[in-house]
Amino acid sequence: MPRIVSLASAHASTSAVLAAGLVRVEARFRDQLDTPIRPVAELCEHVERYRGKMLRPTLVILSGLAANTALVEPNDDHIVVAAVIEMIHMATLVHDDVLDDASVRRGGDTVNKCKGNEAAIILGDYLLSKSFHLCSTLDTQRTALRVGEVTSIVCEGEMLQLAQRGDFDLGEPAYFNIIRRKTAALIALACELGASHADAPRAIVQRLSDFGDKIGTAFQIQDDLLDLVGDEPVVGKSLGKDLDKGKLTLPLIHHLSRLDSARRAATIERLKSGASTPAERAALARDLEATGSIRFAREKAKDLVSQAKSLLSPLDDSRARAALLSLADAVITRTF
Ligand code: IPE
Ligand code: IPE
Ligand code: MG
Ligand code: MG
Repeated sequence: MPRIVSLASAHASTSAVLAAGLVRVEARFRDQLDTPIRPVAELCEHVERYRGKMLRPTLVILSGLAANTALVEPNDDHIVVAAVIEMIHMATLVHDDVLDDASVRRGGDTVNKCKGNEAAIILGDYLLSKSFHLCSTLDTQRTALRVGEVTSIVCEGEMLQLAQRGDFDLGEPAYFNIIRRKTAALIALACELGASHADAPRAIVQRLSDFGDKIGTAFQIQDDLLDLVGDEPVVGKSLGKDLDKGKLTLPLIHHLSRLDSARRAATIERLKSGASTPAERAALARDLEATGSIRFAREKAKDLVSQAKSLLSPLDDSRARAALLSLADAVITRTF
């Protein structure tokens, strides 16, 4: 059972259905990457060795079950869609670790660290093409259309972020534009396609998509908080990378906006050299606490989660809906 799901304290019967569904997703994922070409198989084995939280496949399955309470388990389309989305997610992580020069992911070495940037770029491309190939096995052209659209939005988010590196004047609207694209869009798609492949009415599909957009945005705010104040062995990936790469995130945007111009200029100078040592990170965390910037970001994420949860009120009461509500809370209480 993935750790995010146990955090969500889903009811035992939902957990069992979900766990069985996720086993099917993993098998689909593995089959899709099966190849007799030795060097390709070695790279694929590297990404399959470490499992993440499986948040997006979990959302596909729970959204499907919550949107149509007549379903007792995910259908085959849900399994394919979940594998497609997890594969796209994994491709973006492999590429993102090159962009961020990161060495740890899911508690192990990143692909770029142990195989080099060239291998990581091609492997990310391979995962993307394999995911689109798998998606095209579905009967619905609309799903392929949405997957293509949303994957472009994710790339746009990463490109926008790259263009805005080192911009210490970045404001909240620009920050939210980046994180809704790079992270929330794919999470929203998982919820949308879970519901649409359960034959839910359009209004319910839209609600689940909006739910995903809001928890996805909160998820990235929490990720950005963990990058600043998280515990690297617990999070399982390289931290402090946002500042290292000149990426301004919500707590820092708030912090800078609270300083007078002299302190702001001095702080920017300090931030430009990053905060990678434990002592630098601790000092920065103290400063962010002092201006209430950590609390501000936490409150923002909490507010998004509560908006997300209220979107689910019109859905029929079900264990899957209850699990989605707990999962929404887990997105911001998580420490990994
Ligand atoms: C990491 O996503 C990238 C972000 C969008 C913050 P996850 O935290 O879902 O990564 P895994 O799949 O659990 O490793
Ligand atoms: C999320 O941003 C990246 C993607 C959506 C691919 P981050 O750069 O914060 O993700 P992590 O922290 O490396 O997982
Ligand atoms: Mg990164
Ligand atoms: Mg991060």
